[in-house]
Amino acid sequence: MPETITITDNRTGDSIEVPIDRGGVDAKEWGKLLPGVWFHDPAFGATSAAASGITELDGANGVLRYRGYPIEQLAEQSSYLEVAYLLIHGELPTAQEFEAWRYEITHHTFIHENVRKRFMEGFHHDAHPMGILVSTVAALSTFYPDAKDIEDRDLLMKQVVRLIAKMPTLAAGAYRHSAGMPFVYPDNSLDFAANFLSMMWKTAEPRYEANPVLARALDVLFILHADHEQNCSTTAMRTVGSAHADPYISTAAAASALYGPRHGGANEAVIRMLTEIGSIDNVAAYVEKVKRGEARLQGFGHRVYKNYDPRAKIIKRTAYEVFEVTGKSPMLDLALALEEVALSDDYFTSRKLYPNVDFYSGLIYQAMGFPMNMFTVLFAIPRTAGWLSHYTELLDQDSRIYRPRQIYTGEPARDYVPIVTR
Ligand code: CMC
Repeated sequence: MPETITITDNRTGDSIEVPIDRGGVDAKEWGKLLPGVWFHDPAFGATSAAASGITELDGANGVLRYRGYPIEQLAEQSSYLEVAYLLIHGELPTAQEFEAWRYEITHHTFIHENVRKRFMEGFHHDAHPMGILVSTVAALSTFYPDAKDIEDRDLLMKQVVRLIAKMPTLAAGAYRHSAGMPFVYPDNSLDFAANFLSMMWKTAEPRYEANPVLARALDVLFILHADHEQNCSTTAMRTVGSAHADPYISTAAAASALYGPRHGGANEAVIRMLTEIGSIDNVAAYVEKVKRGEARLQGFGHRVYKNYDPRAKIIKRTAYEVFEVTGKSPMLDLALALEEVALSDDYFTSRKLYPNVDFYSGLIYQAMGFPMNMFTVLFAIPRTAGWLSHYTELLDQDSRIYRPRQIYTGEPARDYVPIVTR
């Protein structure tokens, strides 16, 4: 069997044979046969927008790998900082490389005082922390003019380190501001997750000691959220990056996409949904409402996974470890009941709707004391490594600027009518 497809233009009878290369066909070949006829795919459902060596996602079989390493092994044995190195550099670090990376990240966690004093404190007291995060990440661009020099690999790596390092500081600062609490400076003696928890929760104690189970659980959640190939925010990152915008501005664009409830805001929506359902007695009625099309089952379904999201399996296990420390979330039984009803209902199974990463992550965050408006922020912290690995890969590929075409559906040509005669 030839690994090709044949496209025939029935208007002319001309046809072209195009090779299938690693599951894709080159759209340039389509363009040769059919100039001016666009492949119409507005939500990119059937379009590969990048050749990428970072994350492999097999949605049909529930497989997720970073640089070839299964997500299950990374979640079990690695740390977020090591995974961030892997995503950016393509290989796991040696002990020496890891130590240098850890040192670099740790020593770039501080933010310029003006970012804190002038920007963060300038936001209204009830500003959403995700809005603060997006804006301050964009503002960092103005503090590092050398970031414009994206051709210089060493300078680019400096911005990558700064962004990965400063994200938790900005995130915790956004929370402290919205809670009316004083800003907590980073503690260089703590590891990545414990330092973030310290900046979140420290009050009058000289040193904040995070519970190690909770710090590890957060680190696992960071690993699980670090990358997910060409999702909406990564596509935003690559699109803005393809215009050669600097890494801060591009990361702010990606974080803006993540802010949307269909993407990073879904775990917040899960908690709202569980609150609305209220009790196990109401689960069946809620599922019927979803089936009538009057609501969506939040935390269910995925564009790519048509099977149980492998991240959801790990998160479910992590949830139990967290609840051992915090006490069980009263919403857990409700979530389990909802999952059971949905997974035995033809509406969901026939559409291949399974729990995704967000179904249980909100419950964990809530048990750890994070307010709901911090959930998307908690997603943005680790995804920064993923976004930046795509950004650097894109630059290495010397890609053209992203510039899709359209099917024009507006009015045909017409003459301007002066306002007095309209
Ligand atoms: N509840 C009920 N029905 C659903 C759901 C859901 N959560 N998701 C999809 N469907 C139905 C949808 O109505 C459609 O049915 P029909 O064929 O009868 O019209 C069918 O399943 C296909 O849905 P779709 O809207 O074409 O799927 P999509 O690929 O465009 O949307 C999605 C993917 C994630 C936006 C969607 O499943 C959804 O809204 N889920 C809830 C929100 C959520 O959990 N999002 C987090 C995604 S994972 C985090 C991340 O990676 O960012």
